[in-house]
Amino acid sequence: MAPRITVVGSSNIDIVVKVERIPRPGETIIGGDFVMVPGGKGANQAVCAAKLGADVTLVARVGDDAFGRMSLENFEKSGVRTDYVIIDSEHPSGIALIAVDSKGENSIVVAPGANHALAPEDVENAGSVIAESDVLVVQLEIPSETVRRAIELAKLLGTQVILNPAPIRPLSKELLEQVDVLVPNQHEAAHLVGEESSERLDPQQAARLLRDLGVRNVIITLGAAGAFVLAGSEEMFIEAFRVQPVDTTAAGDAFTGALACAIAEGSRIVDAARFAAKVAAISVTRMGAQSSMPSREEVNAWNF
Ligand code: RIB
Repeated sequence: MAPRITVVGSSNIDIVVKVERIPRPGETIIGGDFVMVPGGKGANQAVCAAKLGADVTLVARVGDDAFGRMSLENFEKSGVRTDYVIIDSEHPSGIALIAVDSKGENSIVVAPGANHALAPEDVENAGSVIAESDVLVVQLEIPSETVRRAIELAKLLGTQVILNPAPIRPLSKELLEQVDVLVPNQHEAAHLVGEESSERLDPQQAARLLRDLGVRNVIITLGAAGAFVLAGSEEMFIEAFRVQPVDTTAAGDAFTGALACAIAEGSRIVDAARFAAKVAAISVTRMGAQSSMPSREEVNAWNF
């Protein structure tokens, strides 16, 4: 039986332009043609896990507009269950404006729209699905009270919780104590441990500090430098797979979605992180967010 995952999170349409470099404040630059692709951290993670073979239910809100319909079509095509994707007639779909430079690095501005109306009650309505799930995945592109309720409910129902704290905001010790696996990138980890910048972040020290705050397991993703894993008493660096990046948008979502899939299948956290690093590496060789997520067959056949 396929492992079951519930993702509570955002859904956007990404409007992406390739540029030579990210513009400075006040500067106008000419880019390439724009493309519109389904995105949003929650939806990206859901699509990633579903394409890898998990049985995934997404709890999200989209607007009653062309963007919302485009997202729904892609969920159905990718095998994501949409029973708890609410079509919100009062708010437009979330939109992300993304510039991707010649090295594949990006800058993103999100207009959250309907994502900011995703309410604790929307999560409660999906309680029976969360109860049957092996893993609940949540990020921070939705209201804080909805994140809190999702985590609280999953813990009550005996479902493991993976939190990808992106985009970062302050998190209480009480919330962190309920998280089974925290997956920040180095910037988010720096913020959570009170460092001003991620430049001098020692991932091992940061992971230990986060464990002291009550998180059971921590995986800090480090881009091309791989990831640092603290799982119970085990600690190790996982090397990144070497690829030529085309677009790093949603690499963290590919990592989190794949990690959730492997943990739900019963993998040890360290092995799940190695698998997630492979899936994230494949995703950066392709343009777009959901469009960059590989199928299980593609992951198995991929040669680095
Ligand atoms: O993590 C990448 C995602 O962030 C994009 O798809 C964009 O929609 C924003 O949510």
